[in-house]
Amino acid sequence: MSLISVLGAQWGDEGKGKIVDLLAEKANVVARFSGGSNAGHTVCNPYGEFKLHLIPSGIFYPHTVCIIGNGVVVSPDVLLNELKQLREKNVDTSRLYISSRAHLVMSYHFLLDRLEEEAKGSKALGTTRSGVGPAYMDKAARLGVRAGDLLHEEDLRRSIAVAVEQKNAILSKVYGVPPLSVEDVYDQCCHYREQLGPLVCDTVPVIKGALGRGELVLLEGAQGALLDIDFGTYPYVTSSSPVAAGAFVGVGLSPSQYRIDCNLGVLKSYTTRVGGGPMPTELADETGELIRQKGSEFGATTGRPRRCGWFDAVAARFSADINGFTAVALTRLDVLDSLARIKICTGYRVDGEALAEFPSSATVLARSEPVYEELPGWQCATSHLRRLEDLPKEARAYVDRLSELVSCPVGIVSVGPKREETIMVMPIP
Ligand code: IMP
Repeated sequence: MSLISVLGAQWGDEGKGKIVDLLAEKANVVARFSGGSNAGHTVCNPYGEFKLHLIPSGIFYPHTVCIIGNGVVVSPDVLLNELKQLREKNVDTSRLYISSRAHLVMSYHFLLDRLEEEAKGSKALGTTRSGVGPAYMDKAARLGVRAGDLLHEEDLRRSIAVAVEQKNAILSKVYGVPPLSVEDVYDQCCHYREQLGPLVCDTVPVIKGALGRGELVLLEGAQGALLDIDFGTYPYVTSSSPVAAGAFVGVGLSPSQYRIDCNLGVLKSYTTRVGGGPMPTELADETGELIRQKGSEFGATTGRPRRCGWFDAVAARFSADINGFTAVALTRLDVLDSLARIKICTGYRVDGEALAEFPSSATVLARSEPVYEELPGWQCATSHLRRLEDLPKEARAYVDRLSELVSCPVGIVSVGPKREETIMVMPIP
């Protein structure tokens, strides 16, 4: 087995950081392929607790090469800050590489993310304001500054001049904000070049080389399938493709040359969402609050309280289908430990009619009423358990039912934030 992917299967925040941290021990390469610093992967290990926004969660293992792939948009300031924090805790960061094709999130992208959201008023998407959307807009509009430009004076000056001219038109004419100076942006990039230039390279040969030697490469997803720009609850989505197909584009692998041997979908044992957009199983009651408090469901990037609700098997099945998961990592089972009854959404009804599929329209999803089945809770602690057969029978039944509804075997059950608070159901890899 040589290629593993760990992908978010809901609306992000499923606990991918812990799962990658766990599996990275055996990986030679861990590569991020999409998103940017809108992601916040919480990792709790012997070095301490970290919230990684850009650096792959494999950084804690001395033998693991970490790659920020071409599909990622990189905020140099966030990255430099993250590197500083890791170095302060004596984590060796010398094996980190940034794809020369990755686009940079510039200071004006942060500014535009905020201005665009403010201008939308009550219709705001609730973005993380990490500049990620505006950076992907520039990438598609061919106005981006790429990491590789930092290494080429001429490319850097040209790309900055083109981008700043266009930004100034928008900033002054649309938002009435003072224009940017090309020289200031250029000077800022020279600082980034000094700090990050040595990490920038063509990362495709690094990944292909590892796969060619039969080494283990782990593709680390960010966000989740329901936030995918194509398959998510558009327009309440992020601007990239966190799904399995996006992983190939985002690191430069061909699907006819390589196959994902283990495609692990990370599913939280309940559902959360942060930001706007429909969420049929959202609980605006004390059970939702209990889950939020017990699960510390507050955004790792923005600190916003996450919306919490029951497990949505319709959405999870859709996600498994789009991604082709070979196994599921079920996280945060322990958060449900105290509940007497637990509901699972097994279907939707719209205007009294059963809906066969997860709808492509966010408006239809917003009108979808969940159809629930109810299971008894287990009402005892599970964080100390390490084998599936040791789980209380109600917890086991819950895990089995989710697996059945999603039509995917459960490979890992996570019962706490620490590495060891894990039940390995099947060997991965
Ligand atoms: P953006 O990606 O910052 O543009 O935000 C677009 C939507 O995706 C918003 O609803 C965000 O809250 C959501 N989002 C982006 N990244 C994450 C994440 O890592 N976890 C959960 N939600 C996210």
